[in-house]
This record gives sequence, C-alpha cells and structure tokens, in this order.
Amino acid sequence: MCGITGYIGKKDAAPILLQALKRMEYRGYDSAGISTIHKDNVTIKKDIGRIDSINEKIELGKAEGSIGIAHTRWATHGGVTKENAHPHPSCNQEIVLVHNGIIENYQKLSKELSNNHEIISETDSEIISHLIEEEYNKEKDPLKTLKNVSKKLEGSFALIVIFNDKKDEIYGMRKYAPLIVGIGKQENFISSDIVSFIDYTDNVIFLEDKEIVRVTSNSIEIVNFDGDKISRDKTHVAWEAADISKEEFSHHTIKEIHEQTSTVQNALKQDDEKFKEFVEKLKSGKNIFITGSGSSFHIALIFRKMLTKFVNSPVQAFLSSEAEEYIELMNNNAILIPISQSGETADLLEVIRNVKDKGVTILSIYNTLGSSLSRVSNISLNLNCGPEIGVAATKSFTSQLAIVYKIIFELGEVKNGNEMIIELSKKIKDVLSKEKSLQEIIELLNESNDVYFLGRAIHHPIALEGALKLKELAYIHAEGMAAGEIKHGTLALVEEGTPAIIINPKDESYDDTINNAAEMKARGAKIIGISSENNEVYDHWIEIPQVEKILYPLIELLPLQLLAYYTAIRKKNNPDYPRNLAKSVTVK
Ligand code: AGP
Ligand code: GLU
Repeated sequence: MCGITGYIGKKDAAPILLQALKRMEYRGYDSAGISTIHKDNVTIKKDIGRIDSINEKIELGKAEGSIGIAHTRWATHGGVTKENAHPHPSCNQEIVLVHNGIIENYQKLSKELSNNHEIISETDSEIISHLIEEEYNKEKDPLKTLKNVSKKLEGSFALIVIFNDKKDEIYGMRKYAPLIVGIGKQENFISSDIVSFIDYTDNVIFLEDKEIVRVTSNSIEIVNFDGDKISRDKTHVAWEAADISKEEFSHHTIKEIHEQTSTVQNALKQDDEKFKEFVEKLKSGKNIFITGSGSSFHIALIFRKMLTKFVNSPVQAFLSSEAEEYIELMNNNAILIPISQSGETADLLEVIRNVKDKGVTILSIYNTLGSSLSRVSNISLNLNCGPEIGVAATKSFTSQLAIVYKIIFELGEVKNGNEMIIELSKKIKDVLSKEKSLQEIIELLNESNDVYFLGRAIHHPIALEGALKLKELAYIHAEGMAAGEIKHGTLALVEEGTPAIIINPKDESYDDTINNAAEMKARGAKIIGISSENNEVYDHWIEIPQVEKILYPLIELLPLQLLAYYTAIRKKNNPDYPRNLAKSVTVK
C-alpha cells in the first residue's frame, strides 16, 4: 500500500524524491523517509507523520547526493514508529532499501538472521536488507544477490535498493506489487506510481512480476528471477500532471466529486472496436463472474443485477478477498470481469493469477493507466477519469457506473444510450449545488454513532456505498442494508433519533422501501429520504431529479458523497487522507 520511489541522475535526488513522496502520499501516510548516497556517506532521514510535517522537522529534501530512494508507509507489520519507517539499512549501513508489500515468511527469516544481524525494527521489510547484506557479502554482485534473495522471500514485494559501493546504480525488483521505471534524459526513476515522476518524463517501462532491474542514469537492464535477460519496449503514457492539483477546491475529494459531470462523459469515450468486442464476449459468455473490492465491489453488485437480464449465462459477483469457491467454478468458458480504480488491488490481482492458467477470459474495467490489471486483461475498458487522489472512490465510482450503463445499453440495443447518459451527467451539477440544504442532516450525522443506509434492488449497492463513504470519511459507524432485511435483526438497534438514510427513488421498489422506513420510524429512527418524490415518512427529504429508472443509482449516490464529505469536514477530519487507510491496497 505504500509508495516507493528512487532517483538516479545528475541532479540532487532529495528534492525530487520529496516531491515524488508528496505525489504518492495517497498510497500511505503514516510515516515517510528518504535515503541518499553522497561520496561515501549514506544518509537516512525518516519519521512518523505526514510528509509536510516530517519535512518541516528534518528537511527530507535537503540530503546530499544524486542517487536516492524514498518511501511513504502504510504499516502492515509493526506500529507507526520512526524505527519502523523506511528506508531500512543493513547492519553495516552500506545497503538501504524501501519495500512495498508483505514478506510472509519474515519470522522464520528473522530467526535465521538474528544470530549475525541486529534487527532494529518490527517490520518484515528490514529483514530483507539483512538478507541482502548476507548474500551480497558472498559475491558483491547486486543482480546475483537479488536473484538469490528473491528465492528466499515469500509474499509480495516491490523493492528499491541502493548499495554504497555501487553509487551509479539503483536496483528494483518486484513480485505481485507494482514497480515502474521512468526514463529521463541522463536520469532515471523507479516508482510504484507514474504520478511520482510525471513532471520529468512520460516514457516508462513497466516491470513484470518476478523481474529485477538495474538502473543507471543512462541505462536500464532487466532480468527475471532466473537471471535471464529481458528486453522490454518503453511505453509512452499520456498523463497530465496538472490533473493532480486541487485547483480552487479545499480537498481533492470535493474536487473529484465536482468533476463528475465531465468524468461520466469521458467514461463513454471508448474505442468502438474494443468496446464492441468486450460486449460480444459477454453475449457469448457461458459463465460470467464479476469481482472487485470496496466501492468497486459495489459496482460489481449493480452490474450483476443489471447484466442477468441481458445475458443467457449465470452471472455472479464476488468480493476479490472471498474468491475461493468462485475460482473453483471458473473454467475455460468463463469470463471474469475485474473492476478496479487502481488496477493494483492485491486481492483482485490474486484472483486473476489463480484463474489465468485455466483459460478464463479477463475483461477488465480500470482507471490507472499502465496498472497491473490493464496488462493482464484480454480486453480492458478505461474509466478515463484521470488520477483520483482522494482515498475515497468518488468520480471513479460514477465512471465505473457509466461504463456499466454503456454496456447494458449496448446489450439491450438501446439506440440513444450514450445520449441518455450524457443527459444524466448534466443533472449532476444541479444535485451537487444543493450542498447547503444538507446542513441539518450533517448536524444530525455528526451527533450520531450509528447510521443505517437502506435500499432495495439496484439501490442496495448504493446503500452499501453510502455507508462505506460515511465510515471512511466521517469515521461514523454505518451499515448499508437491503431494506427488507432490517426487520430480520437490525431493527433491534434502532433508538430514538437513530438516522436512517432511505435510498428510494420512484420505481417498483418504492412502496416496499417506504414500509421499511415506516417500520424504522415507528421505533424512533429519523428518516432521511433520498428520492424523486417526497413522503410523509421522511423527516428530511433530499430531492433528486426524475430520471430513467436504471439511471437512478448514479444520481442518488451524489448526496451520499456530499453527506460523507461535509460530515468529515464538520468533524475536522481530513477527507483526502482518512486515518488508517491508503488508496491503493497492494497487500492482502
Ligand atoms: C473506496 O472509497 C475505498 N477507498 C476502497 O474501498 C476501494 O474502493 C477499494 O480498495 C478498491 O480499490 P480499487 O478500485 O482501486 O481496486
Ligand atoms: N510491510 C511493510 C511495512 O509494514 C511495507 C508496508 C506496505 O507495503 O505498505 O512497513
């Protein structure tokens, strides 16, 4: 989940690495550090906290040297302490590394190494630096060393390593975690994410799993874990650096919420041929599976509900982290649709690894260009919504939904499908402009410990999404539920004043959902109705415009995004960087 980066060239590495860390802070933000080499001195600066505050304290950007590595952490092993922050040196301080991932056999390795090495931190990552030191002492050959080390590590890792006696070289290696080389002029970069070096170059080389790279200021050499040389073409990425500014907004999250009119429209701009092929494959599919995590899983649920009506085969949606029984069901007739903003979610990539050899066709929907997902798919559709920096999925969610609509309209042979979605996107602005009218509800949420989100049919996944947004941004316990389920247990939790957000536009599920709302109100709940139509059951009514029934999920989600964002602001939380979370979940 963390971000790792490295620089080698003629310039001072530290300010470049500092900027790269800021760009990647969304990936992890509990601690950070930089290491550079200058003459024979290895400098390591690291601390806990957000990058700006660490920089104020210890001037991360001021270490000397034109080679260096850096890390922004999301702790998996060991608490958030200075010792556990990366980079981690070997005992002799001659080798330093940064790591993204989890080393599953670190306890065993730690025991083996502890006789000869002083292990300072509680992390799994530090063990690797001692292991590298051990191997390096045998032959003083970094490539051979890393190849040997790769055989001993179990789990997932992207590593960047520097050696004090190899000041003109920087090494990277990856297995199940992203690593990309940026090709500059007389300088090169390695990183978990293109955004970290996009100001310097948009020419990149994507490393594949089980590869090691040696990078100098003017050369790049790749070998696999068996030591075979790999030749790989560079890719040119069109990625506007400007897209990652906040513009006039106070946070990325609210900027991204307000971008949705255009991002929904951009999602429709698919390559015609590729899109048709995607849809044809779905039509002929014998067994369709859709998977994702978090918000992307909620899209999988909506997609499944809609798709079953248009294809002849069974359609299942499952959480990527709960894939076992679905993997068993997949054979070479199966189609798997992974959905992901980052394209780097470890749970999701693991599903693909487990089914790829069975001949399953992978039709993916993703956002981040060049991500691992994009490179393991048979056909992929891009969200085209630009980088999403806020940890909460907002514009990526509605872009995913727009693509789902586009697919469903194509399957249903709806001639003016695109126009319908464009019309819908124009209504987004109106709904978002009503943020002031939400004030009373925000106060109610702010005083509550528990909030329930209810919806039936295609509104159920939106209830789940609304609850997830409130949890991650406002830190309020929230439960998204199928409205009909409330009477089967959860009603016992309803007390005087408990807020219940009822997602209930006027369609076939309207009356039943009103009854569920009434059942809650009778037990004291405060009912907030999100609907195209008012009802006496509602204590508060958030009006949404009337649209085609199938399009309601997109429009009804918008007030939920606003409620989560403004309640977070009311609570003085930073909505861009919620505590304990990271944007890209690259660990299991
Ligand atoms: C959404 O707000 C969350 N931050 C999270 O649940 C996210 O949707 C999930 O981690 C999946 O990420 P992906 O779409 O990048 O795969
Ligand atoms: N496992 C490492 C740690 O806890 C790296 C974590 C990560 O990849 O985010 O420091």
